Amino acid sequence: MSIKKTERIWHNGKFINWDDAQVHVISHVISYASAVFEGIRCYQTKQGPAIFRLRDHLQRLFNSARIYRMEIPYTLDELSAASLELVRVNKMNACYVKPIVLRGYGEVGVNPFPCPIEVYMACWEWGSYLGAEALEKGVDVCVSSWTRMAPNTLPAMSKSAANYMNSQLIRMEAIVNGYAEGIALDVNGYVSEGSGENIFLVQDGAVITTPLTSSVLPGITRRSIVSLCEDLSIPVREQVIPREMLYIADEVFFTGTAAEITPLRSIDRILVGSGARGPLTKKLQDEFFALTGGSKPDRHNWLTPVGVPIAASSR
Ligand SMILES: Cc1ncc(COP(=O)(O)O)c(C=O)c1O
Repeated sequence: MSIKKTERIWHNGKFINWDDAQVHVISHVISYASAVFEGIRCYQTKQGPAIFRLRDHLQRLFNSARIYRMEIPYTLDELSAASLELVRVNKMNACYVKPIVLRGYGEVGVNPFPCPIEVYMACWEWGSYLGAEALEKGVDVCVSSWTRMAPNTLPAMSKSAANYMNSQLIRMEAIVNGYAEGIALDVNGYVSEGSGENIFLVQDGAVITTPLTSSVLPGITRRSIVSLCEDLSIPVREQVIPREMLYIADEVFFTGTAAEITPLRSIDRILVGSGARGPLTKKLQDEFFALTGGSKPDRHNWLTPVGVPIAASSR
């Protein structure tokens, strides 16, 4: 997906031009992947643009940074205000907002402490992640030969750049073999997650997802789906998922900020159910998009209005 530039990027408290948001090649982050980040969606609602679960995403950013002993020199309130201002300044309606905290240019060597912490935040327009038809028709995926990080190697609960080297291996293998995405197993051979998505399956009317002990990112969409199931009185639980449960599930879907709720059509060329989007997946999608689109009241306070008139869209 090619990048559609926006005008301004937030850097350490100031707005700079998109093209000026550059880091030196000898910055710590380039050699050692010392960055944590977030991916947040701003939805176009009938009441104007609104950011989905902004504070929850920013809290995860602070958690990711804390795990890596990175001190963010801003408060959550300051980053929250900056995110909203960023969307306004770029006159966006729907977009993807990406805050990045990185170790910049300072000293060479693995020790990150002497390198300054830099905070950037960019936004741009982003459509569906796994293809235009994915939300309706579903995607064909494989189980990856790459395992997700084992516990006590790289922390899965931190959304760190380093974890995405593992994600890249999973995604590339899937692509070269003709699949849209790969599902990684954890170090014990149980289902973990996609390269950029959490995974859910539906079995006998119950919605099941993997526990955090299976090396998964604590997804904000994952948490939202659990809440929606509770709202809709759909039984939902976390459990360790053996690989073969994927092949006999009635429905399987990915969740993520980018992927939203994407049904899986087949796994390792075995059809999921009948190969069409299942009824519970559709029900959860409908509820999710009604809330994010503002056509249903925001009963969980998940949306933070940005405050730009719809007519001000730059698109
Ligand atoms: C590896 C991984 N798992 C899960 C997710 C889903 O998380 P969220 O719903 O917070 O976007 C993402 C996306 O951020 C991800 O990259």
